[in-house]
Parts: sequence; structure tokens; C-alpha cells
Amino acid sequence: MQPKRGTRPELPEPDEESAAHSKRVANHIRQYIKDQGGSISFAEFMQQALYAPGLGYYVSGTQKFGSGGDFVTAPEISPLFGQVLAKQTVAVLQQLENASVFELGAGSGTLAATMLRKLSVLDALPDKYFILEISADLEERQKEYLENEVPEFAARVEWLSEFPPEFSGVIIANEVADALPVERFTKTDGQLKQDRVKAGRVRFNWHQDDAPENLHNAVGDIEKSIGYRLPDDYTSEVCLALRPWVADLVHCLREGLVFVFDYGVSQKEYYAPDRSDGWLRCHFRHYAHNNPLVLPGIQDLTAWVDFSTLAAAAVDSGAGIAGFVSQAHFLVNGGLQEEIADFQSLDVEDQLELSRQIKILTLPAEMGEYVKCIGISQGDITPPSAFHLYDRTHTL
Ligand SMILES: C[S@@+](CC[C@H](N)C(=O)[O-])C[C@H]1O[C@@H](n2cnc3c(N)ncnc32)[C@H](O)[C@@H]1O
Repeated sequence: MQPKRGTRPELPEPDEESAAHSKRVANHIRQYIKDQGGSISFAEFMQQALYAPGLGYYVSGTQKFGSGGDFVTAPEISPLFGQVLAKQTVAVLQQLENASVFELGAGSGTLAATMLRKLSVLDALPDKYFILEISADLEERQKEYLENEVPEFAARVEWLSEFPPEFSGVIIANEVADALPVERFTKTDGQLKQDRVKAGRVRFNWHQDDAPENLHNAVGDIEKSIGYRLPDDYTSEVCLALRPWVADLVHCLREGLVFVFDYGVSQKEYYAPDRSDGWLRCHFRHYAHNNPLVLPGIQDLTAWVDFSTLAAAAVDSGAGIAGFVSQAHFLVNGGLQEEIADFQSLDVEDQLELSRQIKILTLPAEMGEYVKCIGISQGDITPPSAFHLYDRTHTL
């Protein structure tokens, strides 16, 4: 997710209604912390701040996406993202029988609408476009949005409450993996500490405790795989929910391909010795910062993705890796050029707007390099063109 251009230089003040909501969420988390004995892991804090029933950031009824919200994602920035993804999807659907599309965490529903339009143009509309959305509020918004935007295709869209068994087709997850709760840890005097959260009189505070066994094991595995011990005074995150999430994805896929897009890097980059303050990123009203303990319930919390662990989880679950590319390479390899073939015939204003969108999607210092796409394949699938050039699977 991207803050809008011209981002404000300091954290904006929430309006009265948002501040009141945040207070309710803070009270809920305070009580939760009390019930848990006085402190909780950061993963529990993130889970509550984002998903506490009726209160969390993703499940309460506030606007999150677009210029009136907190951040913009690739499908919100430009339909070009979904148009190229639809072409890549068709290249997979054509290899399968009775294949469908299944999107996880569909946000505002923008990507689904763009995909359905483009799949129709390509004469490749599947009978079903499934969505699995964790937030009941967003599911309602997606239904309304799709009925308004693409009424002719709305009947094909079906919301699921769990992964479909024996799915055949294409699964899409754009900026979902970075919304999975992460553990935060610090190395101090050669000891591994778990960064936990306590409730102070007015705010939430960090508190360190001995790391539990599962965190010890996870960090031990990371150190084994990168080949060195993490240094002292080193803080980072590990997403213990990532492996089970990937395993669920792979196990539901009988045949086909999963496109996972997210901000992320290889494990070596994730745990580089100089990356000593981790990968948390928070978004409030297009202001990006790294203090997750403020504005509970009204700011988005994300952590970049360790794509090596994601790939290993897929392979351990029996899948293959079709490719791993930057978002820029995905789009350029995948047919972006054809999507803008009429550029010269547009009036200047539209040319400027299209150029702006393409820059945000592809420039290295915008989303082009920070966001990656990994293809996870099941069965005998020829990787689509998006993975043909600049594949960096070998870096994982
Ligand atoms: C950052 S938003 C991205 C939305 C959309 N994919 C886009 O690109 O605009 C994350 C989305 O994932 C959903 N989500 C988070 N965790 C999920 C999970 N475990 N399963 C399904 N959806 C999830 C959120 O409710 C939200 O819709």
C-alpha cells in the first residue's frame, strides 16, 4: 500500500469520530491485556487492533482505501494492474478445465471489478469468481460495489467463509500476507526477547520478556538458514501465521496457480544485520510511519513479507514455484505495453494521469521494486509470461 503523493510531514490528528472509535478499541485492548495477565505478544496486539470483532481496523465500518482513506493499493491506483493480472490469469485458466478465480481479501472490490471486466473482454469469464474476505463489513461493501460497478457480472461472484476444497484455477492475494499478525523480537546480550505490549496509564508501551519456545524455534530456524546469528540490539518480526496460511492455500488448490503480491524481500534481505528495526509499517490518512502502538483501530498495521519463508512453506506443502518477480517486471512482462497501446491518441490530461499511474506501479522507489509477486503452482502448469524474464526465485 502506498501513501498518496504529497503525504503530510507529520501524523495528522484524527477527527472526533475516529478518535472516539480509537478510544473504544484501546479500551477493548486494555481489557484484553488485563485478561491475559498484564501483557500480550505483538501478534495478539496486531490481531486485536486489526480484527477485534466489530472494532478492529479491518472489521469496523470506516473508509480505508483510496484518497478518502488511509492508503492506496495497486488496483486502486490504476486498472492497469488488474488488466495485466487478468491476462496472466487467462494464460493459466486456458490450461485447465472447469477453472475459476478465487480472490483473498478483496478490499473495496476494485480488483474484482477490473478483473471481471477484462476477463469478459478476453472472452474468458469463469462461471465463478470466489472471494474470501475476513471482514464482514468489507464483504458488504464489496457486494454493493460490484453490484453498482459490474452488475452484469455480479451474479458470478460468490463469497466463501473458508477455503474451497479441490479448487481448480487461479488464486489471487494482493496485500493480504502483509496484514497477517507478526511477532516482534529483539536480541539483547545474546538473548532472544519477545517484544510484548503493556497498557500504560495513557498509552500502550513495549515490554520485553523471555521469548517463548515457538519464537525461539522460529528465530533459530532463520539464523540457521541465513547462516549467521542475528546481532545484539537487533529488532525484527517473524510471521508465525504465514506458513499455515500458505499451507491452507496450497492444500485447497488441486490444480492451478496462486499469485501472491506484497511488499517483501528474500529472507537474507529481511534479516540483514543492518536492518535492525524490522519491517513494520503503519498507515493513517496517507501518512506512513512505524509506531504501531498509537491510533489503535484507526490505522493500518502491516509487516513486509519474508518471501523465502513463503516459498519454503509452499514447497513443503507440495507446490512448485512458478516464479518470483518485482511488480514492475510482472507488469512489463505481463503485457502492460499492450494495455497502453492507445496512449498517443489520448488527450494530454489523460496521458499525464496514465503516466502518473504507471510511475507509481512500476518505479523502483514507488511500488515497482518494493512489491513482489510470487507464483505458486500446483499440477502441470506452464508459468505465464509475467515470470518469463527477471525471475529471481534463485534469491529466495
Ligand atoms: C491491505 S487490504 C488489501 C485489499 C485488496 N486486496 C487490495 O489490493 O486493494 C487487506 C485485505 O485482506 C483482508 N484480510 C486480511 N486477512 C485476511 C485473511 N486471513 N483472509 C482473508 N482476507 C483477509 C482484509 O480484510 C482486507 O480486505
